[in-house]
Amino acid sequence: MNGDKAPVRVWCDGCYDMVHFGHANSLRQAKAMGDYLVVGVHNDEEITKHKGPPVFTEEERYKMVRGIKWVDEVIEGAPYVTTLETLDKYDCQFCVHGDDITTTADGVDTYHIVKSAGRYKECQRTQGVSTTDLVGRMLLLTRGHQQRGDSEYKVERSRTESMSEDSAAKSPWTGVSQFLPTTQKIIQFSEGKEPKPGDKIVYVAGAFDLFHVGHLDFLEKARAQGDYLIVGLHTDPVVNQYKGANYPIMNLHERVLSVLACRYVSEVVIGAPYSVSKDMMDHFKVDLVVHGATPVATDVDGEDGDPYEEPKRRNKFMLLDSGNTMTTELLVQRIISNRLSFVERNQKKEAKEANLWKAMNADQEK
Ligand code: CTP
Ligand code: C5P
Repeated sequence: MNGDKAPVRVWCDGCYDMVHFGHANSLRQAKAMGDYLVVGVHNDEEITKHKGPPVFTEEERYKMVRGIKWVDEVIEGAPYVTTLETLDKYDCQFCVHGDDITTTADGVDTYHIVKSAGRYKECQRTQGVSTTDLVGRMLLLTRGHQQRGDSEYKVERSRTESMSEDSAAKSPWTGVSQFLPTTQKIIQFSEGKEPKPGDKIVYVAGAFDLFHVGHLDFLEKARAQGDYLIVGLHTDPVVNQYKGANYPIMNLHERVLSVLACRYVSEVVIGAPYSVSKDMMDHFKVDLVVHGATPVATDVDGEDGDPYEEPKRRNKFMLLDSGNTMTTELLVQRIISNRLSFVERNQKKEAKEANLWKAMNADQEK
C-alpha cells in the first residue's frame, strides 16, 4: 500500500484459456505495479467471435484465474476491447498487458483506446510457454520436453513448430522460444514464509502436470484441512514411470511454477520421493498427508508398494474427494479431439501477428 493514498487498482484482461505460468507471471508483474489486481476474463461467446472456440469453459477459466495468488478479483465476461468505461467502472487507473499484440477479429488492437488515453502499461511476456507449445507436446508422443536444452528437445521443437504453424507466418511474440527456468523466477513465485509455531502442516504429493481445475479444487480442500500446505512434486522420470507415454507434458521446473502460482500452496518440494518416508514426515513436521480420489500407483521400489504406508501407520493419512473429475489425461484428450480447430486458431493468431509486425516495421522504415 502507498501510505495514506488510495490503493492503486490495476486492470488486466484476457482469454486465459488453458491457464499456464506465463499467464500467472503476467498477473504477478501487473500486481506489482499497484495494490489491488482486477482481472477481466472474456466469456466463451466473445472468444469464439474473435479467436475461435476456447478449449476450457468460461466457468473453468474464471475459477483458474481466481486460483492465482496475485489476483484480488475476477470480472466475468469482460469485453474483448478494453474501454475507458470498463477501467472507470472498476475504478482501475490503468490496464496491463504483455508485450505482444492482441487484435479483434477485424485486426484492431484491442488496447488502442486505453493506449491513446495513456492508461496502458506493459509487462514482459514469458518466453517459451504458450498454449501452442503445450498442445504441440501433447500431440507428439516424444519426451524431449522433459530434457530441455539437449539435442532431442531441439529436434522436437522444430517438429512441433513445423506442424503447428506455417513458417511464413511466424510471429515475434507468440512464436515460442525456450523457457529458461531461473532461481529468480522461483523466488518471485514463492511465498517465502515458513510455517508459524502451532500451524497444522498438510502434505500432498503428485505430478500436478498441466495444472488444472481438478488440482485447484483438490488443493483448496487440502489446504482447508490445515494452515500450511506443502506440495511434493515427483521428478519427470518418476512421473513417466507411473504415467507412461510422453508424460509429464510439463517438466519439473514448469510444474513447480504452476503449483507455486496457486493461492492455496505454501511451499513446494522440488522432486519429492514417491513414497512419503519417515524422514519426509519428520523433516517437514507433517501433521496430515492427503490424497485425492484418483488411484494411487504402487511404488515399484518400495517394500509393500504403498507410497502412503508411513503416514497411514502414524494415523496421519486422509483420502479427500475434490469433487472434480478432471484429470491430466482427460485434459489431453479434450485438446487432442479439438486439435484441428486449435491448430487453425493458433495459425490464424500467428499469421495476424506476423502481418502486424511487418506493417509496423514498414512504418518505421518510412
Ligand atoms: N501472457 C504472457 N506470457 C505468455 C502468455 C501470455 O505474459 N507466455 C500474457 C499476455 O500477454 C496477456 C495475458 O497473459 O497479457 C493474457 O493472455 P491471453 O489473452 O489469455 O492469451 P495469449 O497471449 O493468447 O496466451 P497463449 O498464447 O498462451 O494462449
Ligand atoms: O494426478 P496427479 O498426481 O497430478 O494428482 C495430484 C493430486 O491431486 C492427487 O492427490 C490426486 O488424487 C488429486 N486430484 C484430485 N482431483 C482431481 C485430480 C487430481 O483430487 N480431479
